[in-house]
Amino acid sequence: MGTRRPTIGVFDSGFGGLTVLKALLELIPEADYIYFGDTARLPYGSKSVETVGRYAVEAAHYLEAHGAEVLVIACNTATALALDRITAAAHVPVVGVVEPGAASAAAVSKNKKVVVIGTEATVSSHAYRRALEARGVEAREKACPLLVPLVEEGWVEHAVTEEVARIYLAEAFGDGFHDADALVLGCTHYPLLKPLLHRVAPSHVSIVDSAESTARVVSEQLQKLLPPAGFQEERRALPRIKFFATDSVEKFRRLGQRFLGHAVDDVQHVDLKE
Ligand code: DGL
Repeated sequence: MGTRRPTIGVFDSGFGGLTVLKALLELIPEADYIYFGDTARLPYGSKSVETVGRYAVEAAHYLEAHGAEVLVIACNTATALALDRITAAAHVPVVGVVEPGAASAAAVSKNKKVVVIGTEATVSSHAYRRALEARGVEAREKACPLLVPLVEEGWVEHAVTEEVARIYLAEAFGDGFHDADALVLGCTHYPLLKPLLHRVAPSHVSIVDSAESTARVVSEQLQKLLPPAGFQEERRALPRIKFFATDSVEKFRRLGQRFLGHAVDDVQHVDLKE
């Protein structure tokens, strides 16, 4: 493989997965990236297993056809509902966000009791609970459907968002879960709320960002996949990032910047035929 840079494909229902791309860029700047945001069909968080699975497989095929050598399923909902289906359909390694997030939470939690927040669909799938119970950790999952639209509105430091988060977390940490000591951010949008959630969550609680945990797992996967010399030598060069969006390119640039923390330039519209 020489000194070729690996191409990592990142998939999400929309803009939120850019929080995962951000974590990947920080940890693995020696790769190039292609990002697929299925903005025309978002949100996934309120859709069925069948629909999310079908959409996610189409996106995975698209990324593979455009050169992805590893697929990162940044969307918690797509991972929770369809990781097995995506992995079966793909010809390259697939990394989802649930297992890395659960592994970090299990490592961080001293009481072996954790709260996970996510979309309605992620919570109903119980994917996080299964992954945590397999590690000897008791989990309570709490759907927080109002948080995604509030983040997309840009209200990440807003009194309304703070009040909404306070109500959700009071319910999640109530009734026998006062001693849970980790909060897993099981949705792409929630890392933007980290400062607010730190204020609102009980003070003894550690926040586990599954975006960061996932980036660490992808980095390990790449070390296995690529020859060390080829992987290391191009560290100097900046990553190339290409974005594909199924809805408005202009909107993707505008909202994307907020999630990624810098300009989103090279965006191409994709029309996926049903
Ligand atoms: N990307 C989704 C997730 O992480 C949130 C947005 C949506 O519902 O599509 O669960």
